Amino acid sequence: MQEIIRRLEEKRAAARLGGGQTRIDKQHAKGKLTARERIELFLDPDTFEEWDMFVEHRCSDFGMEEQKTPGDGVVTGYCMVNGRLVFVFSQDFTVFGGSLSAAHADKICKVMDHAMKVGAPVIGLNDSGGARIQEGVDSLAGYADVFQRNVMASGVIPQISMIMGPCAGGAVYSPSMTDFIFMVKDTSYMFVTGPDVVKTVTHETVTAEQLGGAVTHTTKSGVADLAFENDVEALLMLRRFVNFLPANNREKPPFWPTEDPTDRKIPSLDTLIPADPNRPYDMKELIQKIVDDNDFFELQSTYAANIITGFARMQGSTVGIVANQPMVLAGCLDIDSSKKAARFVRFCDAFNIPIITLVDVPGFLPGTSQEYSGIIKHGAKLLYAYAEATVPKITVITRKAYGGAYDVMASKHLRGDVNLAWPTAEIAVMGPKGAVEIIFRADMKEPDKIAARTDEYREKFANPFVAGSRGFIDDVIMPHSTRKRICRSLAMLRDKKLENPWRKHGNIPL
Ligand code: HXC
Repeated sequence: MQEIIRRLEEKRAAARLGGGQTRIDKQHAKGKLTARERIELFLDPDTFEEWDMFVEHRCSDFGMEEQKTPGDGVVTGYCMVNGRLVFVFSQDFTVFGGSLSAAHADKICKVMDHAMKVGAPVIGLNDSGGARIQEGVDSLAGYADVFQRNVMASGVIPQISMIMGPCAGGAVYSPSMTDFIFMVKDTSYMFVTGPDVVKTVTHETVTAEQLGGAVTHTTKSGVADLAFENDVEALLMLRRFVNFLPANNREKPPFWPTEDPTDRKIPSLDTLIPADPNRPYDMKELIQKIVDDNDFFELQSTYAANIITGFARMQGSTVGIVANQPMVLAGCLDIDSSKKAARFVRFCDAFNIPIITLVDVPGFLPGTSQEYSGIIKHGAKLLYAYAEATVPKITVITRKAYGGAYDVMASKHLRGDVNLAWPTAEIAVMGPKGAVEIIFRADMKEPDKIAARTDEYREKFANPFVAGSRGFIDDVIMPHSTRKRICRSLAMLRDKKLENPWRKHGNIPL
């Protein structure tokens, strides 16, 4: 008995030391925390239940039988975050570069299986060189086992990936199927093949940072949602983020008590819209002012910034916000913004989070670049996502709602539950100038006639009344009452029930 306890302690100590002090020092020298330090920072103190600390790899090629570390490069288990259950795995770069062996994969699969059984989120702290090269196909099989679980868990429990080191090859495909990907600046990378392979195959010279750093993925590719300055900031923000999410697809969003009155008037909103309809204003100001305690957690803030997506709370419960941003590309919809918002809408719908849509959209972005890249199909993603969503949908049109984009942005026609408009709303097929140039082309050489026609068109459509007369807008509200009206609508919709027809699955235009 004494001997077993001694050996147990020895193994525990070896597991805690991972790949050894030298490699831990190297990890620290790069500004990175170790796998265990990360878990400690992320969870509520003294709540971590670790599993599979004694698991070892089963590879005997390339002298691997001599190189075994208990835990095999990934720390797994469950813990509490702000009193709520989450499952976690944290890859240990000090053990074979956090690479994934069959045993390492089994450990991840075990926490995913349990998370599915009890209905709690899975958080991956990823720091991995990809497939464990020495294990060959066993490692590939391990990845596929994780991928399959990622897909089965999609829409059932929230899955979040925090990329905290170089993630190559298979190490990026599992995160790519999770709901949210966060990265740490300067120390985390994601690529399918690294700079050396790129150089060999395409003759491009590119640094790891340029190819797959946090800035690249949060500004160019849109693969990641946010980039944080360092491990500490990343993990503290992750704690904050988890608070917004329900534990699974059968739960309502979590409730966090607030002192912020639901009927709070916001007089400054009455002057938010500039007199000149072509002047921009900051939609984020509106969002921050209407949500509980001005607390808005924005996602993908540096990617496709012409649309804003993120979580907030109203009357204490999580809501998803989607809003056009007139400050960027006049708030138009293009390929990137459509894909960004569509994915967000689908997450909200899968997890019972009501969607609030704030509309100021001049239409879809025209041009060959957009058409050649498939705006028709990509724009349709957002249309499809809104149309299939059955969660409460509340829409406020602040200014422009033109053309197809009017339909797309949670219009009444796509089963918007409550559709409100500010007095400044303009709901039309297109802006007055463009419309007159088409329907009165014969008068183009007569500026007076064109000016009169433009005024006539503006008079007819640059207001919310025509849409109101058809019932497409439920009410025209004063901007200062926006919070109150949304909160009331949310309360009314609390027990909304709506089901789509049975089908195996739809066929979203991918
Ligand atoms: C085994 C690995 C490893 C791997 C790194 N190591 N990657 N061991 N399998 N995939 C080990 C190194 O041998 C080294 O061991 C330690 O981890 C740290 O690695 P370094 O190279 O010293 O670190 P660094 O300079 O920071 O570079 C990190 C790295 C690089 C960018 C991740 O190691 C790298 O390029 N690794 C290979 C990446 C890769 O090609 N993976 C396979 C992808 S294919 P010591 O003992 O010296 O500490 C794949 C297929 C799955 O994943 C596809 C499924 C769809």
